[in-house]
Amino acid sequence: MNPAVLPANFRKLPPEERKLLWEQLFFVNDDERSVAACPPSAFELADLMVESAVGTLPLPLGIVSGFIVNGEPYDLPLAVEEPSVIAAAGYAASIIGKAGGFQVSSGEPLLHSYVYLEAVSPAGEAALAAGYDRLIACLDPVLAGLSRRGGGLRHLRQYRLPETGLLALELLIDVRDAMGANIVNTAAEAVRPLAEELSGGRSLMCILSNASPERRAQAAFCLPLKNLAPYCRGLPAEDIARRIVLAAALADEDPARAVTHNKGVMNGIAALAQATMNDTRAIEAAAHSWAARSGRLRSLTAYRVADDCLHGSIDLPLAFATVGGSVDLHPVSRACLALMGKPDSMKLAALAAALGLAQNFAALLALVSGGIQGGHMRLHSARLAYRAGARGAQTRLLADRLAARHDFSLQAAREEYNKLQGDA
Ligand code: MEV
Repeated sequence: MNPAVLPANFRKLPPEERKLLWEQLFFVNDDERSVAACPPSAFELADLMVESAVGTLPLPLGIVSGFIVNGEPYDLPLAVEEPSVIAAAGYAASIIGKAGGFQVSSGEPLLHSYVYLEAVSPAGEAALAAGYDRLIACLDPVLAGLSRRGGGLRHLRQYRLPETGLLALELLIDVRDAMGANIVNTAAEAVRPLAEELSGGRSLMCILSNASPERRAQAAFCLPLKNLAPYCRGLPAEDIARRIVLAAALADEDPARAVTHNKGVMNGIAALAQATMNDTRAIEAAAHSWAARSGRLRSLTAYRVADDCLHGSIDLPLAFATVGGSVDLHPVSRACLALMGKPDSMKLAALAAALGLAQNFAALLALVSGGIQGGHMRLHSARLAYRAGARGAQTRLLADRLAARHDFSLQAAREEYNKLQGDA
């Protein structure tokens, strides 16, 4: 059967009609419709933010409390569908917080943008290099606002790409608190005609790179083994610390493990990016390409044991914005930024680095000291209860019964639900 049931002109229908059609066609009852309900004010914003909007997807938003970062306490907002993410971050934050928390730092918010030119002769290449003053003058009006805020052009350079023969003209721009995609793409397009004139070549495209290798943030912690001991499920803290170090070395060695290790690092970072309406895809792409910069996918985190402490660290590109785009447009992302004390982009990136390290530490601690599934399935049981039909107070009650049975099947959830109905 052809799954396309929407009318061909769906995109062009008035927003309210699109929304109504969506709700009528794809929700089976009022219970479902009320979960998916999108108030008119939220729908108006959604329709401005994306093409062909039909509603909003109410992703859970939670707060992980108790992060100590450079000596200051922070509560971090996370928007995520996976049940263990906030729990794991909070668990790690409390263990590391009791030992002084995270030390963080971050680099300047620099973004690269490119004009890729084809058919440039060696003489054209030299003429382009000799014309940088004119290119800079051409960029001045485009970047004037950014320069007033302390950002602006930091350098121009060019290089030849041997496989395609293309010449890349690179603009490095300090975008301050913005994600920066619009301004750096605009800048590249603004210099394109002059770059073509100077080089005698023809532009193939103008586009930023999300790699952001300078826009990195670092976080580290030092956890005395005596502080780790209570969380080792009865195993010696020295052995658990050694196994965490080995687990990170494994991720560094085996790309198959690195994928999942780094996915866990990004669990919290992507959730923070969602909560603040940052560009999660750009942040993920940069992190994974940074992890693979040696030509092999490696770990984003590193651990060692020294002086009776477990030392953990992370260093990765984090192009978080605190202004522009949807970040300061949507009231929920604005509230999330307010929760964190309205950080600038560098501070937010540093908080994200601490969060990524916390998430990874929680995962490794669980993995090397008995496994993660026990904890995950306990969290999963509430969903099973909901699927089985439980609502309100019954949901938690049913989830507890499933956890007590150690049976996390839908069948068990239905049985327990029927028993509850019988008791009522
Ligand atoms: C699950 O979302 C994340 C983990 O798989 C990360 C890891 O394996 O390190 C637990």
